[in-house]
Amino acid sequence: MSIERTLSIVKPDGVQKNLIGEVYRRFEQAGLRIVAARMIQLSQAQAEAFYAVHRERPFYKDLVHYMISGPVVVQVLEGENAIERNREIMGATDPKKAAKGSIRADLAASIEENVVHGSDGPDTARTEIGFFFAQSEICPRKR
Ligand code: CMP
Repeated sequence: MSIERTLSIVKPDGVQKNLIGEVYRRFEQAGLRIVAARMIQLSQAQAEAFYAVHRERPFYKDLVHYMISGPVVVQVLEGENAIERNREIMGATDPKKAAKGSIRADLAASIEENVVHGSDGPDTARTEIGFFFAQSEICPRKR
């Protein structure tokens, strides 16, 4: 296992439901460190670009609409096996299929309004971190 970084987003439904602290508590309790963070209102162009990989999917338009419906909190998580670890903490995209105790099983309303986003692999993590953060905004800490 190695120390990795991954991009995480508390989506508009998570922010609206006051779940930022609850989501961060789960990351920190699992040993992941938040090494960069910011609240932002995504523009339509930003949301379209971030989810460009889903451009041909039937849910793309609704997804973009939802992601600009309110502010989001973006963060970089760092830790052992952080990409997979974060995916376990989030649970499956569809809350009905998410493992018990995961963020989405416990807190998500639907497959779209699913509280959090997390990078799905090392290449995506690198691209997604660079989408939101300059290198100078990432603050690694002593272990
Ligand atoms: P996320 O992990 O951010 O990646 C793509 C997002 O599209 C997903 O979470 C959901 O918010 C949204 N989405 C909506 N419908 C679907 C679907 N049928 N399958 C996958 N993702 C969906």
